[in-house]
Amino acid sequence: MEVVIGGVPTLTQVAAGAVERLLRSRPETVLGLATGSSPLAVYDELVRRHTETGLSFARARAFLLDEYVGLPADHPQRYRTVIEREIASRVDFAPGAVQGPDGTAKDLAAACREYEATIADAGGVDLQILGIGTDGHIAFNEPGSSLASRTRIKTLTEQTRADNARFFGGDVAAVPRHVLTQGLATIMAARHLVLLATGRRKAEAVHQMVEGAVSALWPASVLQMHPHVTVLLDDAAAGRLQLADHYRQTWQHKPDWQQV
Ligand code: GLP
Repeated sequence: MEVVIGGVPTLTQVAAGAVERLLRSRPETVLGLATGSSPLAVYDELVRRHTETGLSFARARAFLLDEYVGLPADHPQRYRTVIEREIASRVDFAPGAVQGPDGTAKDLAAACREYEATIADAGGVDLQILGIGTDGHIAFNEPGSSLASRTRIKTLTEQTRADNARFFGGDVAAVPRHVLTQGLATIMAARHLVLLATGRRKAEAVHQMVEGAVSALWPASVLQMHPHVTVLLDDAAAGRLQLADHYRQTWQHKPDWQQV
Protein backbone atom coordinates (compact mmCIF):
# COMPACT_ATOMS: atom_id res chain seq x y z
CA MET A 1 0.00 0.00 0.00
CA GLU A 2 1.15 3.49 -0.73
CA VAL A 3 -0.03 5.88 1.98
CA VAL A 4 -0.15 9.59 1.16
CA ILE A 5 -0.82 12.03 4.00
CA GLY A 6 -1.65 15.58 3.02
CA GLY A 7 -4.19 18.34 2.72
CA VAL A 8 -7.42 17.73 0.86
CA PRO A 9 -6.27 19.77 -2.20
CA THR A 10 -3.21 17.51 -2.54
CA LEU A 11 -5.20 14.30 -2.09
CA THR A 12 -7.73 15.52 -4.64
CA GLN A 13 -5.04 16.28 -7.21
CA VAL A 14 -3.37 12.89 -6.72
CA ALA A 15 -6.65 10.99 -7.20
CA ALA A 16 -7.89 13.09 -10.13
CA GLY A 17 -4.42 12.90 -11.69
CA ALA A 18 -4.49 9.09 -11.60
CA VAL A 19 -7.91 9.04 -13.29
CA GLU A 20 -6.82 11.58 -15.91
CA ARG A 21 -3.62 9.70 -16.77
CA LEU A 22 -5.64 6.55 -17.38
CA LEU A 23 -8.29 8.28 -19.49
CA ARG A 24 -5.66 10.06 -21.60
CA SER A 25 -3.66 6.89 -22.22
CA ARG A 26 -6.67 4.63 -22.74
CA PRO A 27 -9.98 6.38 -23.41
CA GLU A 28 -11.90 3.06 -23.00
CA THR A 29 -10.92 2.98 -19.33
CA VAL A 30 -13.30 1.28 -16.90
CA LEU A 31 -13.72 3.33 -13.73
CA GLY A 32 -15.15 2.25 -10.39
CA LEU A 33 -17.10 5.03 -8.70
CA ALA A 34 -17.89 5.31 -4.98
CA THR A 35 -20.61 7.29 -3.27
CA GLY A 36 -20.27 8.97 0.14
CA SER A 37 -18.74 12.35 0.85
CA SER A 38 -15.07 11.36 0.58
CA PRO A 39 -14.80 11.30 -3.25
CA LEU A 40 -16.87 14.44 -3.90
CA ALA A 41 -13.90 16.81 -4.22
CA VAL A 42 -12.31 14.40 -6.72
CA TYR A 43 -15.50 14.35 -8.80
CA ASP A 44 -15.60 18.16 -8.76
CA GLU A 45 -11.98 18.25 -9.92
CA LEU A 46 -12.67 15.75 -12.72
CA VAL A 47 -15.62 17.87 -13.84
CA ARG A 48 -13.37 20.94 -13.83
CA ARG A 49 -10.77 19.14 -15.93
CA HIS A 50 -13.51 17.99 -18.31
CA THR A 51 -14.89 21.53 -18.71
CA GLU A 52 -11.63 23.42 -18.77
CA THR A 53 -9.15 21.04 -20.38
CA GLY A 54 -11.37 18.73 -22.43
CA LEU A 55 -10.78 15.59 -20.37
CA SER A 56 -13.25 13.18 -21.95
CA PHE A 57 -15.18 10.23 -20.53
CA ALA A 58 -16.97 9.61 -23.84
CA ARG A 59 -15.44 6.18 -24.40
CA ALA A 60 -15.09 5.21 -20.74
CA ARG A 61 -17.43 3.10 -18.67
CA ALA A 62 -18.10 3.19 -14.96
CA PHE A 63 -19.46 0.83 -12.33
CA LEU A 64 -20.85 1.71 -8.92
CA LEU A 65 -19.79 -0.16 -5.82
CA ASP A 66 -23.15 -0.59 -4.18
CA GLU A 67 -26.83 0.33 -3.91
CA TYR A 68 -29.62 0.47 -1.37
CA VAL A 69 -32.30 -2.17 -1.76
CA GLY A 70 -35.79 -0.86 -2.40
CA LEU A 71 -35.21 2.85 -2.97
CA PRO A 72 -37.31 3.84 -5.98
CA ALA A 73 -35.63 5.10 -9.16
CA ASP A 74 -36.49 8.72 -8.38
CA HIS A 75 -35.24 8.67 -4.76
CA PRO A 76 -32.51 11.33 -4.33
CA GLN A 77 -30.37 8.99 -2.18
CA ARG A 78 -30.46 6.05 -4.55
CA TYR A 79 -26.74 5.65 -5.32
CA ARG A 80 -27.28 5.50 -9.09
CA THR A 81 -29.04 8.88 -8.78
CA VAL A 82 -26.34 10.28 -6.50
CA ILE A 83 -23.59 9.36 -8.97
CA GLU A 84 -25.62 10.85 -11.83
CA ARG A 85 -25.90 14.09 -9.85
CA GLU A 86 -22.33 14.26 -8.54
CA ILE A 87 -20.40 13.31 -11.68
CA ALA A 88 -22.05 11.35 -14.50
CA SER A 89 -24.38 14.11 -15.72
CA ARG A 90 -21.60 16.71 -15.43
CA VAL A 91 -19.18 15.01 -17.83
CA ASP A 92 -19.63 13.31 -21.21
CA PHE A 93 -20.22 9.62 -20.45
CA ALA A 94 -22.14 7.91 -23.26
CA PRO A 95 -25.73 6.87 -22.48
CA GLY A 96 -25.74 3.61 -20.52
CA ALA A 97 -22.00 3.79 -19.77
CA VAL A 98 -22.52 4.14 -16.01
CA GLN A 99 -24.08 1.18 -14.25
CA GLY A 100 -24.83 0.08 -10.73
CA PRO A 101 -26.39 -2.94 -9.05
CA ASP A 102 -30.19 -2.89 -9.38
CA GLY A 103 -31.64 -2.51 -5.89
CA THR A 104 -35.19 -2.59 -7.28
CA ALA A 105 -34.85 -5.97 -9.02
CA LYS A 106 -37.47 -8.63 -8.19
CA ASP A 107 -34.75 -11.28 -8.13
CA LEU A 108 -31.91 -9.62 -6.23
CA ALA A 109 -29.61 -12.65 -6.35
CA ALA A 110 -29.92 -12.76 -10.14
CA ALA A 111 -29.28 -9.01 -10.34
CA CYS A 112 -26.05 -9.52 -8.36
CA ARG A 113 -24.89 -12.32 -10.66
CA GLU A 114 -25.68 -10.22 -13.72
CA TYR A 115 -23.77 -7.29 -12.29
CA GLU A 116 -20.65 -9.42 -11.79
CA ALA A 117 -20.98 -10.69 -15.38
CA THR A 118 -21.37 -7.15 -16.77
CA ILE A 119 -18.22 -5.97 -15.00
CA ALA A 120 -16.32 -9.01 -16.28
CA ASP A 121 -17.61 -8.45 -19.85
CA ALA A 122 -16.32 -4.87 -19.68
CA GLY A 123 -12.86 -6.29 -18.95
CA GLY A 124 -12.87 -5.50 -15.23
CA VAL A 125 -12.30 -2.21 -13.44
CA ASP A 126 -9.06 -0.33 -14.15
CA LEU A 127 -9.25 2.18 -11.31
CA GLN A 128 -11.61 1.91 -8.36
CA ILE A 129 -12.25 4.93 -6.16
CA LEU A 130 -13.06 3.95 -2.57
CA GLY A 131 -14.03 5.49 0.74
CA ILE A 132 -14.08 3.70 4.09
CA GLY A 133 -16.78 3.47 6.76
CA THR A 134 -16.07 4.19 10.42
CA ASP A 135 -16.50 0.44 11.07
CA GLY A 136 -13.95 -0.41 8.37
CA HIS A 137 -16.38 -1.27 5.59
CA ILE A 138 -15.57 -0.68 1.94
CA ALA A 139 -18.50 -0.39 -0.44
CA PHE A 140 -21.09 -1.96 1.90
CA ASN A 141 -18.97 -4.92 3.01
CA GLU A 142 -19.66 -4.73 6.70
CA PRO A 143 -17.56 -6.43 9.42
CA GLY A 144 -17.86 -10.19 9.03
CA SER A 145 -17.91 -10.03 5.23
CA SER A 146 -16.18 -12.90 3.51
CA LEU A 147 -12.84 -11.83 2.12
CA ALA A 148 -13.77 -13.90 -0.96
CA SER A 149 -17.21 -12.34 -1.40
CA ARG A 150 -18.77 -11.28 -4.69
CA THR A 151 -21.72 -8.96 -5.36
CA ARG A 152 -24.56 -9.92 -3.03
CA ILE A 153 -27.14 -8.63 -0.59
CA LYS A 154 -25.92 -7.42 2.81
CA THR A 155 -27.50 -6.05 5.99
CA LEU A 156 -26.11 -2.76 7.25
CA THR A 157 -24.76 -2.39 10.77
CA GLU A 158 -26.55 0.07 13.02
CA GLN A 159 -23.34 2.14 13.05
CA THR A 160 -23.45 2.51 9.25
CA ARG A 161 -27.16 3.32 9.27
CA ALA A 162 -26.51 6.00 11.91
CA ASP A 163 -23.54 7.35 9.90
CA ASN A 164 -25.65 7.53 6.73
CA ALA A 165 -28.74 9.02 8.42
CA ARG A 166 -27.35 12.48 7.56
CA PHE A 167 -28.27 11.77 3.94
CA PHE A 168 -31.84 10.91 5.00
CA GLY A 169 -32.68 14.06 6.92
CA GLY A 170 -31.08 12.66 10.10
CA ASP A 171 -33.70 9.91 10.31
CA VAL A 172 -32.00 6.54 10.98
CA ALA A 173 -35.29 4.71 10.39
CA ALA A 174 -35.33 6.03 6.81
CA VAL A 175 -31.96 4.40 5.99
CA PRO A 176 -32.61 1.07 4.27
CA ARG A 177 -31.44 -2.01 6.14
CA HIS A 178 -30.49 -3.96 3.03
CA VAL A 179 -28.07 -3.17 0.26
CA LEU A 180 -26.46 -4.77 -2.76
CA THR A 181 -22.70 -4.46 -2.78
CA GLN A 182 -19.72 -5.57 -4.79
CA GLY A 183 -17.94 -8.16 -2.69
CA LEU A 184 -14.43 -7.84 -1.32
CA ALA A 185 -13.14 -10.18 -4.04
CA THR A 186 -14.92 -8.09 -6.68
CA ILE A 187 -13.19 -4.95 -5.41
CA MET A 188 -9.86 -6.78 -5.14
CA ALA A 189 -10.10 -7.66 -8.85
CA ALA A 190 -9.86 -3.97 -9.84
CA ARG A 191 -6.37 -3.15 -11.08
CA HIS A 192 -5.73 0.00 -9.04
CA LEU A 193 -7.55 0.98 -5.85
CA VAL A 194 -7.55 4.61 -4.73
CA LEU A 195 -9.04 5.08 -1.26
CA LEU A 196 -9.78 8.48 0.29
CA ALA A 197 -10.39 9.09 3.99
CA THR A 198 -10.53 12.30 5.98
CA GLY A 199 -11.36 13.22 9.55
CA ARG A 200 -10.69 11.81 13.00
CA ARG A 201 -13.72 9.49 12.89
CA LYS A 202 -11.94 7.40 10.23
CA ALA A 203 -8.62 7.13 12.11
CA GLU A 204 -9.20 3.75 13.78
CA ALA A 205 -10.61 2.13 10.62
CA VAL A 206 -7.66 3.51 8.64
CA HIS A 207 -5.17 2.18 11.20
CA GLN A 208 -6.78 -1.28 11.10
CA MET A 209 -6.89 -1.25 7.29
CA VAL A 210 -3.25 -0.30 6.81
CA GLU A 211 -1.53 -1.74 9.87
CA GLY A 212 -3.90 -4.22 11.51
CA ALA A 213 -4.24 -7.95 10.94
CA VAL A 214 -6.05 -8.97 7.75
CA SER A 215 -9.45 -9.87 9.12
CA ALA A 216 -13.13 -9.90 8.22
CA LEU A 217 -13.64 -7.87 11.40
CA TRP A 218 -12.07 -4.90 9.57
CA PRO A 219 -13.05 -5.64 5.96
CA ALA A 220 -10.84 -2.94 4.41
CA SER A 221 -7.78 -4.76 5.79
CA VAL A 222 -8.09 -7.16 2.83
CA LEU A 223 -6.58 -4.36 0.73
CA GLN A 224 -3.21 -5.32 2.24
CA MET A 225 -3.36 -8.29 -0.16
CA HIS A 226 -3.74 -6.07 -3.26
CA PRO A 227 -0.63 -5.19 -5.27
CA HIS A 228 -1.64 -1.62 -6.16
CA VAL A 229 -3.43 0.46 -3.54
CA THR A 230 -3.11 4.20 -2.99
CA VAL A 231 -4.45 5.39 0.38
CA LEU A 232 -5.02 9.16 0.51
CA LEU A 233 -5.42 10.60 4.03
CA ASP A 234 -5.59 13.94 5.77
CA ASP A 235 -3.71 14.39 9.06
CA ALA A 236 -6.78 13.51 11.17
CA ALA A 237 -7.54 10.24 9.37
CA ALA A 238 -3.83 9.35 9.61
CA GLY A 239 -3.84 10.19 13.33
CA ARG A 240 -3.51 6.60 14.61
CA LEU A 241 -1.00 5.28 12.08
CA GLN A 242 2.02 3.81 13.76
CA LEU A 243 4.27 4.42 10.75
CA ALA A 244 2.90 7.86 9.80
CA ASP A 245 6.36 9.45 9.78
CA HIS A 246 7.65 6.77 7.45
CA TYR A 247 4.72 7.22 5.04
CA ARG A 248 5.32 10.98 5.02
CA GLN A 249 9.04 10.55 4.29
CA THR A 250 8.38 7.98 1.59
CA TRP A 251 6.00 10.37 -0.18
CA GLN A 252 8.37 13.30 0.21
CA HIS A 253 11.21 11.32 -1.38
CA LYS A 254 9.19 9.54 -4.02
CA PRO A 255 11.17 9.43 -7.26
CA ASP A 256 9.82 11.87 -9.87
CA TRP A 257 9.37 9.12 -12.46
CA GLN A 258 7.24 6.98 -10.15
CA GLN A 259 3.52 7.57 -10.28
CA VAL A 260 0.88 6.49 -7.81
C1 GLP B 1 -21.00 4.53 2.59
C2 GLP B 1 -20.67 3.87 1.23
C3 GLP B 1 -19.21 3.61 1.08
C4 GLP B 1 -18.45 4.83 1.58
C5 GLP B 1 -18.62 4.96 3.07
C6 GLP B 1 -17.98 6.20 3.65
O1 GLP B 1 -21.86 3.81 3.40
N1 GLP B 1 -21.40 2.70 0.92
O2 GLP B 1 -18.89 3.32 -0.28
O3 GLP B 1 -17.09 4.68 1.32
O4 GLP B 1 -19.95 4.80 3.47
O5 GLP B 1 -18.72 7.35 3.38
P1 GLP B 1 -18.17 8.81 3.56
O6 GLP B 1 -17.17 9.03 2.49
O7 GLP B 1 -19.37 9.70 3.37
O8 GLP B 1 -17.61 8.90 4.92
